[in-house]
Amino acid sequence: MSLTVTEHALVLHILTQLRDENTPHEAYFSLTHTLSRILLIEATRYLPLASFPMRTPMEETTGARISKPIVLVPILRAGLGMLSAATELLPSAKIGFLGLQRNETTAIAESYYCKLPEMVSATAIILDPMLATGGSAEQAIVRLMTEGVEEIILVCAVASPEGVEYLTEHFPDVHIVVGALDRCLNAQKYILPGLGDFGDRLFGT
Ligand code: PRP
Ligand code: URA
Repeated sequence: MSLTVTEHALVLHILTQLRDENTPHEAYFSLTHTLSRILLIEATRYLPLASFPMRTPMEETTGARISKPIVLVPILRAGLGMLSAATELLPSAKIGFLGLQRNETTAIAESYYCKLPEMVSATAIILDPMLATGGSAEQAIVRLMTEGVEEIILVCAVASPEGVEYLTEHFPDVHIVVGALDRCLNAQKYILPGLGDFGDRLFGT
């Protein structure tokens, strides 16, 4: 598994606003959108390209285009905040939805929705702002592998060391791109310093 912690001044600047307890719900979508654009540019850096002959107004040359089908997979709910940035960058990508919710007592994710396009041979980009225990990401990864996906890239705003370690051990081929690797989980399996419950802050619940 490869882990990329995106070291970019704008990432730290935007994440600080997302973390701030005084940042209101109405600012969250726009901040999430901008942050997601940067994270996705990093996450798509090494997508496979195919070259083809083409013409500029000046001469014949060689063009490059993304050669594999891409499926964006936002994890409901919070991953929806990252979707508009992803579709802007990858307008031809198909979109699959996985609904996962952590049980408030056990912190174990339960699946409540799944609607995926054809996944065989695709590159799946999982969108989920928070990687805490890694349980939600694990369920998503297992489901996508079962569907025959070729490569998985997981894009998160904030991750815990525990979650990264868990995924590293169990899914060595998954690439993870995060905005920040935080200190640890608390007893309720929330990330510290973190930003609280991303879904609640994004949707105002
Ligand atoms: C959050 C977050 C991740 C998950 C991470 O979702 O968006 O999906 O928790 O935690 P984990 O790594 O311990 O599984 P949540 O279950 O709160 O649902 P929501 O997006 O509907 O708020
Ligand atoms: N989900 C969140 O939204 N925040 C956390 O800190 C952990 C899981």
